Amino acid sequence: MQIERGSFNTKLGIIAATAGSSVGLGNIWRFPYETGQHGGAAFLLIYIVCVIALGMPVMLSEFYIGRKTQRNAAGAFDVLKAHKFWKIIGFIGIIGAFLILGFYSVVAGWTIEYIYDSVANNLADQTASQLTISFNQFISDPIRPLLWVVIFLLCTFGITLGGVKNGIEKASNVLMPILFVLIILMCVRSLMLPGAKQGLEFLFKPDFSKITGEVLLSAMGQAFFSLSVGMGTLITYSSYFSKETNLLKTTAVVATLDTVVAILAGIFIFPAVFTFGIEPTEGPYLVFITLPNVFNQMMGGYFFSIFFFFLLTIAAVTSTISLSEVITAYFHEEFGISRRKAVIWLFFLVSLLAIGCSLSVSRINTFTLFGMNLFDLFSFISSNILLPLGGMLISIFVGWYVDKSVLKAELTNEGSIQFKLFTVYVFLLKYVAPIGISLIFLNQLGLINIF
Ligand code: PHE
Repeated sequence: MQIERGSFNTKLGIIAATAGSSVGLGNIWRFPYETGQHGGAAFLLIYIVCVIALGMPVMLSEFYIGRKTQRNAAGAFDVLKAHKFWKIIGFIGIIGAFLILGFYSVVAGWTIEYIYDSVANNLADQTASQLTISFNQFISDPIRPLLWVVIFLLCTFGITLGGVKNGIEKASNVLMPILFVLIILMCVRSLMLPGAKQGLEFLFKPDFSKITGEVLLSAMGQAFFSLSVGMGTLITYSSYFSKETNLLKTTAVVATLDTVVAILAGIFIFPAVFTFGIEPTEGPYLVFITLPNVFNQMMGGYFFSIFFFFLLTIAAVTSTISLSEVITAYFHEEFGISRRKAVIWLFFLVSLLAIGCSLSVSRINTFTLFGMNLFDLFSFISSNILLPLGGMLISIFVGWYVDKSVLKAELTNEGSIQFKLFTVYVFLLKYVAPIGISLIFLNQLGLINIF
């Protein structure tokens, strides 16, 4: 059977699709609640250090592997003639993609519910506690959340089937800039609220006594999750890049955009959290019970709210298509299964996982493992374990096993662009990432005691 390989069309398309994968619910939904649960500014600080010292070098390394080999996340290591052990990076990616799709689609389903609620004007004039009650009722409904999840997954897999060029590129090019403008407007409104000062202090004034092993682990996990690194998504995407793509610039632009959007999300959420008396530690529901309050205070809030949840859903889709692409490309290229067949199977499997995750946060749930329901467990295992582990392996592979002149030639497009920080990059890969990530893991396991 013929192996189909797409490619991204334009320079902007490449950046937009990669940024589309990175910017998503991770920035706007997960970042604020993780920050809220882990002490605010101190978490943000560690998060930024992780983005720069771990996330960006891993991103660039994934680009190297993907573009050099033009293969899926596991097959790439065959093309590089690496020992078959390294294919484990691809397998971590595939398991990670399943787990993330499982809980992420549930949240994307919640955003669709909020589009509906915004159109029907159901959220107007509700207080924070009323909003919490309605939200809890909604997620415990036996049908509605599941319906939205399935609709969302149909969109994701429909786009994946449409192929790389047509679906992904066009949608991200137009819609993501609009989302960005909307976010800025929401920040402006939020900063006029009475709780603005307290919110900003929570986000930007670090209290170092709040740093614990768990804070370190979560900040690192959030950095990997938000950038979409450590699991071969970017290996897969960059396998569709052209040889002219400037990988260094793409890394810088995508990481900056992703971090800026997360911080902006913090800026519009925390002033509102303190104004409306919501607990920053509320968890995964934080954004959903905070934002409607902001819209209720905003001129034209009715329209903003519809628009915002719509664009947030799109941002979620551009991330989930990158996840489904990891799995689809793998089964298509390694086993010769047609993309169509792979996607259909994937749809059923992921729907089952997502339904399980959705039920696990409803009142019907009684099942927990390690004190976590399925939803939290999937989120914890993927972000805090699999992605950093994948990132560590990618760093070791590229840092220690790849010939440095070959690496440099690929990253500089055969010497046509400059890479002044090449030695710093290699140092980060060889020492900082493997040692840093191992220390955080060992600390969390209680085997050493840094914090
Ligand atoms: N980075 C995406 C987000 O922030 C989620 C994601 C993680 C996508 C890992 C792909 C791989 O929403």
